[in-house]
Amino acid sequence: MNVLVIGSGAREHALCRSLSLDPAVTALHCAPGNAGIGEVAELHPVDALDGKAVAALATELGAQLVIVGPEAPLVAGVADAVREAGIPVFGPSKEAAQLEGSKAFAKDVMAAAGVPTARSYVCTTPAEAATALDAFGAPYVVKDDGLAAGKGVVVTGDLEAAKAHAAACGRVVIEEFLDGPEVSLFAVTDGETVVPLRPAQDFKRALDGDEGPNTGGMGAYSPLPWADPKLVDEVMETVLQPTVDEMHRRGIPFSGLLYAGLAITGRGVRVIEFNARFGDPETQVVLARLKTPLAGLLMAAATGNLADLPPLRWSDEAAVTVVVASHNYPGTPRTGDPITGLDEVAAEDAPHAYVLHAGTRRDGDAVVSAGGRVLSVTATGVNLTQARERAYEAVARIGLNGSQHRTDIAAKAAAEA
Ligand code: AMP
Ligand code: GLY
Repeated sequence: MNVLVIGSGAREHALCRSLSLDPAVTALHCAPGNAGIGEVAELHPVDALDGKAVAALATELGAQLVIVGPEAPLVAGVADAVREAGIPVFGPSKEAAQLEGSKAFAKDVMAAAGVPTARSYVCTTPAEAATALDAFGAPYVVKDDGLAAGKGVVVTGDLEAAKAHAAACGRVVIEEFLDGPEVSLFAVTDGETVVPLRPAQDFKRALDGDEGPNTGGMGAYSPLPWADPKLVDEVMETVLQPTVDEMHRRGIPFSGLLYAGLAITGRGVRVIEFNARFGDPETQVVLARLKTPLAGLLMAAATGNLADLPPLRWSDEAAVTVVVASHNYPGTPRTGDPITGLDEVAAEDAPHAYVLHAGTRRDGDAVVSAGGRVLSVTATGVNLTQARERAYEAVARIGLNGSQHRTDIAAKAAAEA
C-alpha cells in the first residue's frame, strides 16, 4: 500500500513510525513532515490547508490511502478534496469535523444524542457571558467557540479574567466546571462501526503538578491502571456510538478518528470535548501499544469496512511520552536552536525508547528546533515505572538550549499501580 500522511508533528511521526513497521506499506510519504519523519518517510512540501494541492500531490504519488493528521486541514475540507479525487482518506469531511471545529456544534450533537457533558451556554455578548458565569459560579470555564490549538480554554476562579476571555473571543461556550481525572479515548470509525482504542492520559498544563498555562499537551501515558476496567465499554455505549449514530442520522457521517476528551467525575463520565483527529501526545503512547498493523485499520475506516476487521491486538506493555518544548512555550517559542543527543538515544535506548519529532527541521547536518513542542520522547516498559524511567533517561541525553519538560509525567499513576 502506498500511503501519504499529511502533517508535521509528533503525532504524524508516530503514525509514520507505525506505518513504516507495517509490512503492507510499500511506500510511505509525508507532507510537509519534519526532520524526524524524513528518516522513515519521503517528504514533500505542501500547504496542508490547501485541499487541491494535497489531492494533486496524492494523485501524483499514486497514494492509495491519505491520512490527514491535524484538525486545521480537516476543518478546511482537505479530506473532501482528496475523496473527490477518488482516493480513500482517513479523516472526516469538513462538515463532520465541526465536532471539533465548533464547540457549540459539538454541544448540539451531544444534546441530541443524549451524551453526558457539562451543562453549557453559547454566549455572544458580554451581558450573556456575565449571566452564564453567574449561573454556574466559580471555577469558571470559558471556551472559544472555534479552533485554538488547545489554548482557547480558560479555567479560572477569577470572574474578571473569565469575562475578559469571553470578550476577547467573541462567541464562547461557558460551562459548568467538571471535577475529576481526565481521560482521552480514541475511536476509529467508518461512520457506522466504531472501534475504540486504549485510553490514555494527557498532561495539559505546562508545569509540574499541573501548574502553569494550558498547552497542546506536555506528556502522556497508557494504560491507566487506576481506571475502571469497564470504562471503554461504558464510553462506547454512552458517548462514542451514540455520537457516530447521531452524525449519521444528520446526514454528515463522521469517519476517521473520534477523540473523546473525558472527565471522570463523581457523578459519572462527562465529555469535556471532541476532537476529529488523533490526539497529540496521546497517539504516541497508544500506537506504541497497538500490535495490529496500522495501515489496514485506517484503510478499513476510510473505505467503510471496519465491521469486517478482526479485533485489535494490543501489547501488555506500558508506554510513556515526555514532550520537550522550546523556551517560552506555550507563549511565542524560541526556534532555530540546535538539538543534540538524538544519535545517542538511537544508539543507547532503542528500541525501548525513541524520539518522535514535533517542531524540528534540518539545517545542514544539524537538526534544529522549529516550533513550541519540539520532541516527544517515547518509551515502553513492562509497567509505567519502567517506561517512565526509560523515557526520562532518553530525555536526559537530549540537549536543547532553554528547553523545558515536565518531570512528573505518569509519576502518580506509576506510584499507585
Ligand atoms: P478543551 O480544549 O475543551 O479540551 O479544554 C482544555 C482543558 O481545559 C481540558 O483538558 C481541561 O483540563 C480543561 N477544561 C475544559 N473544560 C472543562 C470543564 N468543563 N471543567 C473543568 N475543566 C475543563
Ligand atoms: N492532547 C490534546 C489534543 O491533542 O488535543
